[in-house]
Amino acid sequence: MAKASSTRGIRTAGVGGSTRGKTAKSTGVRTRRARGEATAPALEAPESIIQLRGVTKRFGSHTVLSDVTFDIPKGQITAIMGPSGTGKSVLLKNIIGLLRPEEGEIWVDGTNIVGLHERQLYDVRRKLGVLFQDGALFGSMNIYDNVAFPLREHTDKPEDEIKRIVHEKCEMVGLMDHLTKIPGEISGGMKKRAGLARALAMDPEIVLFDEPDSGLDPVRVAYLDNLVRETQAETGATFVIITHNIPSVMRTADFIAVLFRSNLVRAASKAEMVADPNPVLRQFLAGLPKGPIGMDEMAQTDEQDWTEDDFKNVQVMTV
Ligand SMILES: Nc1ncnc2c1ncn2[C@@H]1O[C@H](COP(=O)(O)OP(=O)(O)OP(=O)(O)O)[C@@H](O)[C@H]1O
Ligand SMILES: [Mg+2]
Repeated sequence: MAKASSTRGIRTAGVGGSTRGKTAKSTGVRTRRARGEATAPALEAPESIIQLRGVTKRFGSHTVLSDVTFDIPKGQITAIMGPSGTGKSVLLKNIIGLLRPEEGEIWVDGTNIVGLHERQLYDVRRKLGVLFQDGALFGSMNIYDNVAFPLREHTDKPEDEIKRIVHEKCEMVGLMDHLTKIPGEISGGMKKRAGLARALAMDPEIVLFDEPDSGLDPVRVAYLDNLVRETQAETGATFVIITHNIPSVMRTADFIAVLFRSNLVRAASKAEMVADPNPVLRQFLAGLPKGPIGMDEMAQTDEQDWTEDDFKNVQVMTV
């Protein structure tokens, strides 16, 4: 299987901006690969592990993702943000291979997963740990068995080895005293931690989180943020986190990608995103009611009750 270059940096693409619409083809990835040449390393850009190229996903006539192109840096924390209904969860499902895009390429650690057969997809999925919104724990299994589940399901490891791994992961997330409890007996925060322990069980290279902080109080969110940073530093894995929680993103993320109306607004380092004057980014990152983002994510209106000047002095909170 041909490898995508892993040295290109995160790509920026503004809504209506000059870089929008670039795909692997237009950035030269496919042609260089076809010629068997290495892609020139971009010196200042971080190494990437996931590359999205011109990803378009439709449900019937509804285009949820339109020509989305960006890179996710390896061994760092990237937050994917955007108003509700903008396609974040759909994007995550495309990266895992649960949904297939109508157009584009999705490279995960050197493999374009679009069009892969289930068996080949399975090999790529082994590199991924996923933490779904509600933790998606099995309600009838205790914490120990939940964390052990992927190891029993996908490996031939003996039970003593599984025990060692389950203990290691549960120690990491502070759940050693609760191994025999079932999900119904523990709090929301503990469920998230158990979900994280299970997502880490197979030592994945990439961990994807869909709104890990939903339903948690601010203290538990802050605690989870610390845990996310610590586990990322400890494992060196790439973390991709979908969230609406701006303080949480400011605490944890190294990179931020923002989606709006099916398009990528921009993906860049946190510092670059915070300094970007783009009204969509400023409104979203500052959490303002007035601006290009309306109540209805897909509604496009000709009436504009804001000007670029409104956003000049807007402070984006950084923690
Ligand atoms: N299986 C599906 N079939 C048809 N439409 C879908 C399907 N899954 C998602 N959609 C639509 O795609 C759009 C994006 O949904 P998605 O769940 O990705 O939003 P989101 O950005 O994750 O929103 P939220 O922040 O509220 O979780 C929505 O309009 C949703 O109705
Ligand atoms: Mg979602």
